[in-house]
Amino acid sequence: MARTKSSARWLREHFDDPYVKQAQKEGYRGRAAYKLIELQKKYKILKPGQTVVDLGAAPGSWCQVTHTLIGTSGKIIALDLLPMDSLPGTTIITGDFSSDEVYQQLLDTLQGEPVDVILCDIAPNMSGIKSVDQPRGMYLLELAFDFVLKALKPKGHFLTKGFQGAGFDDFAKNLRSHFNDVHFVKPEASRDRSPEIYLVCMDQK
Ligand SMILES: C[S@@+](CC[C@H](N)C(=O)[O-])C[C@H]1O[C@@H](n2cnc3c(N)ncnc32)[C@H](O)[C@@H]1O
Repeated sequence: MARTKSSARWLREHFDDPYVKQAQKEGYRGRAAYKLIELQKKYKILKPGQTVVDLGAAPGSWCQVTHTLIGTSGKIIALDLLPMDSLPGTTIITGDFSSDEVYQQLLDTLQGEPVDVILCDIAPNMSGIKSVDQPRGMYLLELAFDFVLKALKPKGHFLTKGFQGAGFDDFAKNLRSHFNDVHFVKPEASRDRSPEIYLVCMDQK
């Protein structure tokens, strides 16, 4: 298949990217690892022994980082549309987070155990059309927040990717009223042209 200009640019950027090279050298499954490492350095939301849910987890670099921080006494439940290779201390659920069955499977896996930290790096497949992509992204974020309301411990933390655009300000306002401390961060490893921003929501009220 012929390469489009944007796919050729993506490939060039990908192979020149210092975070891609570093991830390959350090054995991470993706460059996204460095976003979580940076956020953890600053906010220290992950601690030994915690139970962590990772939404949109594939290929698994956040799980790798999380596992080294929570240790063998902690556990991770990782969910993604795409299959993932196994990881220590991690239960993997493969399916669409927006489907009722998969959502229920996640709740069943937890068996009522409250969660210390919910990570959400879900990014829907982008069509490139803002009026289509933005509501898709916001819908998944709203679902993740619904899951926070069901499963996160009091005082627990929620770290999520967000996409700035329609609906985002109201969503952020909701988070601010639900958590004691909310930070908006664009990590160094997040590409400048990406509209993504991370919301570190600490201390559920
Ligand atoms: C940026 S990647 C996550 C990278 C991951 N944090 C890591 O460190 O490897 C976003 C993921 O969201 C997943 N995703 C998108 N829509 C989803 C959905 N409806 N349900 C579950 N996963 C979804 C994609 O399959 C993709 O793997």
